[in-house]
Amino acid sequence: MRLEGKVGLITGAASGIGAATARFFADEGMAGVIVADINDELGEKTVAEINAGGGKAIYIHLDVSDPDQWQAAVKESVSKFGGLDVTMNNAGMSVPASRKKVEDTTLEIWNAMHAVNATGVFLGMKYSIPEMRKRGGGSIINTSSIFGIVGSGSGTAYHSAKGAVRTLTKAAAIQYAPEKIRVNSIHPGFADTGMTQELHAMPGERERRIGLIPLGRMGVPEDMAWGAVYLASDESSFVTGLELVIDGGTIIQ
Ligand SMILES: NC(=O)c1ccc[n+]([C@@H]2O[C@H](COP(=O)([O-])OP(=O)(O)OC[C@H]3O[C@@H](n4cnc5c(N)ncnc54)[C@H](O)[C@@H]3O)[C@@H](O)[C@H]2O)c1
Repeated sequence: MRLEGKVGLITGAASGIGAATARFFADEGMAGVIVADINDELGEKTVAEINAGGGKAIYIHLDVSDPDQWQAAVKESVSKFGGLDVTMNNAGMSVPASRKKVEDTTLEIWNAMHAVNATGVFLGMKYSIPEMRKRGGGSIINTSSIFGIVGSGSGTAYHSAKGAVRTLTKAAAIQYAPEKIRVNSIHPGFADTGMTQELHAMPGERERRIGLIPLGRMGVPEDMAWGAVYLASDESSFVTGLELVIDGGTIIQ
């Protein structure tokens, strides 16, 4: 019961890392888990599973790039559970059209990638902070990536947006530390999730990636979800502005 009594909202929680985190948050005793996503069917399924296991979860449709939807989601969360202690800005996207070099990246895909992967995080913090202030503190967890720290041969806009999340997290951590609102980032390495399903099905690609991981296996959503539990809990009450890299050692080389 590491999260007993807390209320937490997770974006991109219909699938992958977000769904695993929502399950762990409920298992650790959260008084309310808000599963937010644009995939309503999968989101409702995640909520049904959590509630069948004795958790207290609701689903809210939330496109993280839309400020009006953010305001409505925070309002609904607070009216349902009485406050907000944890926000995990986890929704993200990477599509074949975004896995391009600089010259081959269209402005359209550049803007779309930043709208979800970077602006979505900014809006999530902007609208959660006032509610956390009312509770006397809180924990914001922003999902970046190892690709927010190091470069690679493609994924131009993804690198840029995830890199923005990395330093935006530290700026917010400094700004809100006096109010005991902690802001940290998680940097997943390669993992099997909805986002990587198509990529990892390409001949040899999954094996190539495993070859880059010193611990010798592909990541699973639960690897990141344990990190989120730590950052959401009071066990990390002296931790802010941290980059928690969970990648099997990929970028220490
Ligand atoms: N899987 C990996 O290898 C990996 C590596 C590094 C970072 N990440 C990051 O982890 C996070 C979670 O991704 P995942 O790997 O679990 O993938 P996933 O596709 O399984 O989950 C992402 C979820 O985000 C949702 N989403 C997409 N756009 C949204 C929007 N505009 N508003 C709300 N929800 C939206 C999707 O519907 C989906 O449910 C992402 O930020 C991703 O960039 C993943």
